[in-house]
This record gives sequence, structure tokens and C-alpha cells, in this order.
Amino acid sequence: MTTDVSNTSPRRGTLIGLGVGPGDPELITVKALRLLRAAPVVAYFVAKGKTGNAFGIIASHLDAEQTRLPLVYPVTTEALPPPLRYEDVIAAFYDESAMLLRAHLDAGRDVAVICEGDPFFYGSYMYLHDRLCADYATEVVPGVCSMLGGAAMLGVPLVYRNQTLTVLSGVLPADELETRLESADAAVIMKLGRNFDKVRGVLRKLGLDKRARYIERATMAQQRIVPIDDVDPMASPYFSLLIVPGVKWQA
Ligand SMILES: C[S@@+](CC[C@H](N)C(=O)[O-])C[C@H]1O[C@@H](n2cnc3c(N)ncnc32)[C@H](O)[C@@H]1O
Repeated sequence: MTTDVSNTSPRRGTLIGLGVGPGDPELITVKALRLLRAAPVVAYFVAKGKTGNAFGIIASHLDAEQTRLPLVYPVTTEALPPPLRYEDVIAAFYDESAMLLRAHLDAGRDVAVICEGDPFFYGSYMYLHDRLCADYATEVVPGVCSMLGGAAMLGVPLVYRNQTLTVLSGVLPADELETRLESADAAVIMKLGRNFDKVRGVLRKLGLDKRARYIERATMAQQRIVPIDDVDPMASPYFSLLIVPGVKWQA
């Protein structure tokens, strides 16, 4: 559904948050593909010197007429030397990115911001949405998020019957992870990378390490499923997650 907040003329462009799925190019929705092909401007977040994971998923669908608008993150880690604060640097970056998009939207051009997985599930698109949705019509197209792609590739049902699913960030301190995992029926732990060793320690302490499953780059060509004990914590990539499936309920 499109949210239209503009009744001014000439027509302003629509901001589109476009989920492109977890990596397998066939996991993009029919709707996302249609809107992607029709968008005059395609924006995407990318780390300095990289192609961008989301962009890689959809690049072959673009034609030469479409404007590519890379939004290059100024930092790739939250650890910055004082007096720099990650929160300030990243907020300024989203402000500048929103201004770039405003220029296209004010000129009447729709802008599709492509987003790996789903735009509203830990997607950077949401920071542009928050800055722009009061001034422009928006449309958000949901995508297959990484935890669902991961569960499918692992072949593990996530939650049975009345179980609840807890989604956690590996960035949380160990004691908080422990408390939340203790009360979880089933859990997904995202944002591992350098947090992997800490998270594995908590799973071992709670005896969940035998139930938990680890997957890297789920649904992508380079996907790897590795037993938890064999994961090298120094080499665990950003695109990885852990799933603690709910205990099987025999119907
Ligand atoms: C900023 S969040 C983006 C989530 C994304 N919007 C989604 O819907 O899944 C990035 C985290 O998602 C997880 N992730 C994203 N894609 C993944 C994939 N293909 N395989 C495993 N984990 C993935 C990782 O835990 C990564 O640290």
C-alpha cells in the first residue's frame, strides 16, 4: 500500500523501501521486481570499496537508464576514536543520504531503496523512512528476511504451536543474552561476526549449543552451514546467524 502525504504539484516522487530477500536472487518477490524495474533511481547502502550485498542481488535486473545511487557508509564499526561517537557519525550520514534522496523525490522521481532481506527488519532503509515519510509518499515492500531464509536452508522448523520466538542481537552483553535465552522457547541471534565467541559461550553455559544451528550467507552462492564447535570466531562473517529452534512438538 502506498502512503500518500503529498497533495502539492508538480508530483513528487515516491520513496520505496524494497526488500530484495536474503541473497538467493530467486527469493525476491514479484512485486519488488516490478517496482525495481520501474524505478528511475535505485539507491543502496554500501561499505566503502564494496559492491553492496543487496545491490549484487538485483544488479542484473537494472537497465542503463536507471540512476544508481550508492550511499556509502562512512564507518564500518561502532568503535571510533574519541571524540567521535558512532551515533553522531551515522546520524549525520543518514541526514546527508536523506538530502540526496530529497533532491530526486522533489524532482518527481521515484526512488527505490533496496534492502537486503526485509526493509523494516534491522534494515538501514528505516532510517531514511523515518526522516522522509512525513514529506513524501512511501511504499514498503516486505522481503524474505534472513532468519527465515536461514531456517529454510538449515531445514529446521523455528517455532511449533504456541512457542514464542525471541530475536536477539549478538551485540548484547553476555549476561543479557543469557537472561533472554533462558526464557526463550526458540531464538534467532543476528549480528554475530566478532560477537560469535561471546554468544557461543552463553549457549554452552545454558546447554543450548547442541540444539543451536549456525549458518553463514544463508541462501547465497557462498552459503556455509558449520557445526557450532567448528566455527572460527575470527572468521565468522557479518552475514551469519544462529538459530535455536523450538523443541519439536509432535502433532
Ligand atoms: C542489518 S541486519 C539486516 C537484516 C535484514 N534486513 C533481514 O531482513 O534479514 C544484518 C544481519 O542480518 C543477518 N543476515 C542478513 N543476511 C543474512 C544471510 N543471508 N545469512 C545469514 N545472516 C544474514 C546477519 O545476522 C547480519 O548481521
